[in-house]
Amino acid sequence: MKVTEIKINSLEELDAYGIDLLTQLQIKDRDKAVVLALSGDLGAGKTTLVQTIARDLGVIEVVTSPTFVIMKQYETSDKYFSKLIHIDAYRIGSAQNLIAIGAEEYINNKNTITIIEWVDRINIKCSKNIFINSNKNFKRKIYVNCPASRTQGV
Ligand SMILES: Nc1ncnc2c1ncn2[C@@H]1O[C@H](COP(=O)(O)OP(=O)(O)O)[C@@H](O)[C@H]1O
Ligand SMILES: [Mg+2]
Repeated sequence: MKVTEIKINSLEELDAYGIDLLTQLQIKDRDKAVVLALSGDLGAGKTTLVQTIARDLGVIEVVTSPTFVIMKQYETSDKYFSKLIHIDAYRIGSAQNLIAIGAEEYINNKNTITIIEWVDRINIKCSKNIFINSNKNFKRKIYVNCPASRTQGV
C-alpha cells in the first residue's frame, strides 16, 4: 500500500496540510461518503487538524474532542460536504456499536466527511488513514495511506 509522508514543522504547516487535504477531497471525493481515520499520540495534533478542516468547511461551532459524547455532528457551509462528523471510537467496542449510536446513516451519506479517532478499536473501512507522528522536538510527520476503496456500510 502506498504511504505518503508529509513533514510538518509548525502549526501553520499543519493548517496548510488540512487545507490541502480538504481541497483534494473536494476535487476527487466530492460524490463519496468520506471517512478519515486519524491517529497519533496525545498532543500530536489530531483535534487541531479536525479544527482546521472544520474551519475550512465553514463550520461555525467550536470543534472540541468528542471523547465523552463519542460522536459530534457539525453543519458546514461547504459546496460539496454539508456535514462534518467527528467520532472518538475509544469507548466504542465494535462497529456494531457504531450502528447502535446511529452513526451508520450519517457516515454513509454522500455529502459527509467523517473523521474517526481511535479507529483501531472498531472495524470500519476508511477512505484514508492519517497518522500523525510527533517527536520530542515537536516536529511532526504525517503518514497517509488510502486502503482499497471504502464500501457502503460500517
Ligand atoms: N504541528 C504543530 N506544531 C506545533 N504545535 C502543534 C502542532 N500540532 C498541534 N500542536 C499543538 O499541540 C497541542 C495539542 O494538539 P491537539 O490537536 O489537541 O492534539 P491531539 O488531539 O492529538 O491530542 C495544541 O496546543 C496544538 O496547538
Ligand atoms: Mg484530541
